[in-house]
Amino acid sequence: MHTITVKDKIFSPFITASEIDNAISKIAVSMNEDLAGKNPLFLIVLNGAFMFAADLVKKLNFPCELSFIKLASYSGTKSSEKVRELIGLNEDLSGRTVVVLEDIIDTGITLGDLMETVKSKNAVEVRLAALLFKPKAFLKSYPIDYVGLEIPNDFIVGYGLDYDGYGRNYPDIYKIVE
Ligand code: IMP
Ligand code: MG
Repeated sequence: MHTITVKDKIFSPFITASEIDNAISKIAVSMNEDLAGKNPLFLIVLNGAFMFAADLVKKLNFPCELSFIKLASYSGTKSSEKVRELIGLNEDLSGRTVVVLEDIIDTGITLGDLMETVKSKNAVEVRLAALLFKPKAFLKSYPIDYVGLEIPNDFIVGYGLDYDGYGRNYPDIYKIVE
């Protein structure tokens, strides 16, 4: 692995593809124990979580459904007001065990709103899995049931994560060179 350039920034190697794979395998072992028989519905948060989700679900050995959702922010009636809209949640969640799959949890603000929305749709249980977690940036108190790796507050790209839309395609993860 070597340094990469994404748009105008330089990034250095941080987490290898094999370290990522090990972290995902550990999550899969836990899920295979916890979720078997619950017929869970995985809600995959686009865009960033597509690669994590693809690799994780191949390691699961119980029946489950997958669906994809996207969060879009748009301006409300007041120009300063930012509202997050949930796109693609068409499933009936009542009585379901729902597992949200996210690439990274930073401040936790984005997912906090999503978790509340999912709960309000009468899921019996909502769990959260994140490949990466920045504990020092986290401003919320909700539990993250499955965490792949805890990382410092550096900005990273690769393995689904982007800088201004680019860098998602790398199989390894890189951190910004300040
Ligand atoms: P939040 O601060 O937890 O609400 O994170 C919001 C979103 O920012 C995450 O879902 C990611 O898509 C993105 N994000 C957070 N940290 C990084 C990073 O280091 N690199 C790329 N995207 C990030
Ligand atoms: Mg994301």
